[in-house]
Amino acid sequence: MAKLSLDRILQSQGIGTRKWCRQLIEEGEVQIGGEIIRDPRASFETDDLQFTLFDEIWSFHAHVYIALNKPGNIECSRKPSHHPGVMSLLPEQFGWRDVQAIGRLDHDTTGLLLLTDDGAFNHAMSSPKRHIPKTYLATTHEPVTAGLIDKLLSGVKLHDEPTPLAATMCRQVAEFQLEIILEQGKYHQVKRMLAAADNHCSALERIAIGELTLSSLQLALGEWCLLNHEQRGLLR
Ligand code: URA
Repeated sequence: MAKLSLDRILQSQGIGTRKWCRQLIEEGEVQIGGEIIRDPRASFETDDLQFTLFDEIWSFHAHVYIALNKPGNIECSRKPSHHPGVMSLLPEQFGWRDVQAIGRLDHDTTGLLLLTDDGAFNHAMSSPKRHIPKTYLATTHEPVTAGLIDKLLSGVKLHDEPTPLAATMCRQVAEFQLEIILEQGKYHQVKRMLAAADNHCSALERIAIGELTLSSLQLALGEWCLLNHEQRGLLR
């Protein structure tokens, strides 16, 4: 059980700077268990803690694990250059918590993107040693053929990659659409693999990471949710 002072608790939840959090507490804006707490140094167990700030109930989270249905024309970088950044789709407190995307999707790729402020989790999920399968739905420029599926499954050589890269699974979904599962996570990998197999990707959506599917989360484009323990278990 961790015990923290109230000003640190508020700061850790992304409410703002420590000074601002202290001010809010001293002004009587924070309640715990229905009681206004005016002492910023009063300490509380953080497990299952709930507090009220400006009449809104907050549940304490040591870390947050976020799933976002990323729309197109959004960059994953925290310092975007040509399009709005992914943090513009999330409440401000996540920026204060230093939430980062786990890996990247291209600005025009839509679908499941995970974000967290848990650096160890981010590192573990991003490690190429983990071989976490990522499932994509790719719309192609030319019709999908058995030959294309064969090439993607047996491996295609990409510029700058020492050995050919192969899909873990690949199947035709429609005349111009295929589902592909990759475990490597190289830069523009789906698009480059399709180009190397003499086709072209005209739209790309990530529909699952590990066993966690976008459809199970029921998020409209641009919507996000916090992942619970069970949902995080599906990622491994
Ligand atoms: N492969 C790509 O080409 N782009 C992505 O955004 C993700 C995988």
